[in-house]
Order: sequence, then C-alpha cells, then structure tokens
Amino acid sequence: MQFKTIIEPFRIKTVEPIRQTTREQRAVAIREAGYNFFLLKARDVLIDLLTDSGTGAMSSRQWAGMMMGDESYAGARSFYRFQDAVQKITNLKHVLPTHQGRAAERILFGSVLNPGDIVPNNTHFDTTRANIESIGAIGLDIPVPEALQPQTIHPFKGNMDLEALETVLQEQGDSVPLVMVTVTNNSGGGQPVSMANVRAVSEICREYGKPFFLDACRFAENAWFIKIREEGYADKTPLEIAQEMFSYVDGATMSAKKDGLANIGGFLAMNNDDWAQKCRNMEILGEGFPTYGGLAGYDLEAIAVGLEEVLDEDYLRYRIRSVEYLGECLDAVGVPFVKPTGGHALYIEAKAMLPHIPWNEYPAWALSDVLYIEGGVRSVEIGSVMFGRQPDSSEVPAAMELVRLAFPRRMYTQSHVDYLAEVIEYVYGMRDRIRGLKMVEEPPVLRHFTAQFEPAHDALIVG
Ligand code: F0G
Repeated sequence: MQFKTIIEPFRIKTVEPIRQTTREQRAVAIREAGYNFFLLKARDVLIDLLTDSGTGAMSSRQWAGMMMGDESYAGARSFYRFQDAVQKITNLKHVLPTHQGRAAERILFGSVLNPGDIVPNNTHFDTTRANIESIGAIGLDIPVPEALQPQTIHPFKGNMDLEALETVLQEQGDSVPLVMVTVTNNSGGGQPVSMANVRAVSEICREYGKPFFLDACRFAENAWFIKIREEGYADKTPLEIAQEMFSYVDGATMSAKKDGLANIGGFLAMNNDDWAQKCRNMEILGEGFPTYGGLAGYDLEAIAVGLEEVLDEDYLRYRIRSVEYLGECLDAVGVPFVKPTGGHALYIEAKAMLPHIPWNEYPAWALSDVLYIEGGVRSVEIGSVMFGRQPDSSEVPAAMELVRLAFPRRMYTQSHVDYLAEVIEYVYGMRDRIRGLKMVEEPPVLRHFTAQFEPAHDALIVG
C-alpha cells in the first residue's frame, strides 16, 4: 500500500458528543464512586474503554435492517435471516438466539453439565467460569505457557496446551462432557488461537469422543490474525477462515455484543440433536421462544447484518491496526504491556509499571483510577481485585496485574488513540507518585463490580 496510515474505513453520519471534564471534577467523581470505575457515571468519562462489549457503533445498514424487524412471537422472518447469517459462517445445525453470551453459556452448561464435571478451555472468561461453577462443575484453564509471559512474543498466545488437554482426557476423561476454546482468548490478553491449534484440539476431542465448542465472541478478529500470521492463510478471506475454524467444532457460544457488531444479543449453536432439544427447553424457561430467545426481531436483523460486516477486510485491518498502533506509541516510551497487542484490547502491565505497589494494594486498580483522573479515560482492572478472592475465602495474588483498554468497535478515531497514548505516557511519567488502595467494602461475589476503596496511604497520587 502507498500510504501507511490505516484510516477508519467509514465516515461519520451521526455523532454523539462526549463531555470534557476538568481534572478536579474527575478527582471528585472517582472519590464519590469509592474509587470504583464501574460506579462512575458514563457522562463523566471522556474515552470509555471499559469494554468492547455492546459498545460499538452500528452501521447505516444495521439501522435500516432494524426497520425490517419482524416482531412475530414465533417463526419471525428476522429469525430465519439471523439463522442464515449464523449458519453461513458456522454451518452448525441448530441455532438458538440468546439475549447475550452468558445466557448461551447458562443454557448449555445447565443442560449438559453435572456437579464435579470438568470443562477445559484455553482460558474461561469470568461469566463462563461462573456459569460452570454455579453447577458445581470445574472450569479448567490450560493455555500454552507463553500466555502467562507478558513480554514473550508469540503469534498465537491464545493457543490451548495440547499436552495438558490429552492428560486431562486420559486421566479424568469420564468427567469431561465437552471441551471449549475461546477465540480470541480475552482473559489471556485478547490473544488469538491458530488454525493449527483449533484443528489439533478438534482431533484430540474426536479421539476421545468429546464434543468441542468454541466461545466465538471474537471469531472475526481471530480469523484476521490467522490470515496475517499463519502460513497458508494470507490469500483466504476472513469468511473462509472463519468457516474453516467452525468446521472443526460441534458447537459454539457467542456474544453478538462483540463480533456481532450489535449492542445486545448472542447465540448458542450446535450439531447434536439431543443436546439442542434440551437446550431449547431450557431456553424457553429463561429466555423465550427459540425463534427470538430474549431478543426483539430488530435485534436479530442488526446481528445478521453485523455478522456480515464484521468479516470485511478493511474493517478488520483498521480494527487490529488501531490497537497495534497504540502499542507502538507506548513501546516508544517504554510503557510495559502484554505483547503482542491483542485483537480488541491492549493490556498494560501494572506489576511492571508500579513495582512499588504490593499486589494487595491493587496496582492495576490504582493505575486505572489514575488514568481516569488525569485523562478521563476509563479502563478495567484484570488483576487481584477481579481474581484475588478464592472460593475458600482466602485472598491470593492474581497471575498478572493488568489494566485492559478495550476498544469499542467503529467508535473512536486515530486522534482518540493519539490522545490516549498521550495520557498513558503522562501517567507513566508520574508512576513513582502513584500509591495503592485498600478495599473498605467488599461484596461477597464478583466483588470488583461494587467494591469500595480508599487510598491505602495519604493519597492515591502523592507529591
Ligand atoms: N465469553 C467471552 C470471551 C467474553 O469476553 C464475554 C464477555 C462473554 C463470554 C460473555 O458475553 O457479556 O454477552 O454475556 N465479555 C465482556 C468483556 C463483558 O468486557 O470482556 P456477554
């Protein structure tokens, strides 16, 4: 290509103002929120990178599609349009719409798991794990060792450890009703899984007679990484790559709030007729009739269009490049982050940046608060606040202390990213003045959403 800037492959047709606030206003806002960024009002946030889930911008085609929504209770035209879009990519026989990804997880696990069962995954997302554990079953994370080495460059750090999978199937196979792989591996840094790894997991599952499911939230981003990093895929389209990926699996759970380019929705898909029947029964109990599954007809239309648009090469190139570009800016000034950059997010390594803050004063949480105070940027901690409290009520350090900056889809431009890089660089320059936090109120489950904090010492920022 002649020019190196990868511009946003869209023009802006509708705008939503974001509000400038002063540093003083933000310092008050975060203090009033108990230093918990989940409790901030969104209007007080300038650039919101809390999540890439349901936060993207819809296209004019999606909005037009919504006008075509068929709101019939059963057998709506919109359902068939949605089913066609899902099957074009996945070729899976049964497609159950759900209101979001975790509903697909709850229906699947509620239908096929028993207490004591084990579900291996490269790394379970927290809702996936929670839905498994709520049945008394065990979510087993077996990523490749590189997944836990932030500075090790590896093209497919999302891969599953194949030996570990063989071991668990040999030794405890009777307790494993299904195997999952998450693409991309969100909790492991948004890292992709190679086609070779998906294929190998599939072969092992066949050998042991186990169904293999994808947690497919970010399947298109994963397909793009395969295209640009894995030998033999450069000339294939993202759709062809996604189709091959799904050809190796027996089912999938999906949050359409990510690579469905929609603000709400998801699905559960599979080939097994018996399981599908059980899941449909469960779906009717909690979600709704299986041709709408907790969604409006217009949502099904938006997702059907989104699933097509998300595989557009220009879009994927821009998307992955935006995150990579932020990585280049941060690398130039020495900010430590998980390498290489992931598909939907960049993960700053707070343990390396703030070595003076002990894990039980939550360095990643403190860093996230400071990014908000200094620049109005909202991010999320993936560290000892999120993962530290154990089922036996002890508190242990998380494997990594990360601040995730997740990019909403088609929402921000390169100048937003430039601003972001400036804010992070500024905060990096004042890192010695950042202090830790103590938790003063802790809810019993999923504590990160509502916990309250205070500075552990004189102030969050000293000097
Ligand atoms: N699986 C993965 C890999 C996810 O990242 C998420 C959501 C889910 C399942 C659940 O989907 O939210 O539609 O119920 N991740 C969001 C995030 C919330 O911020 O990473 P959901």
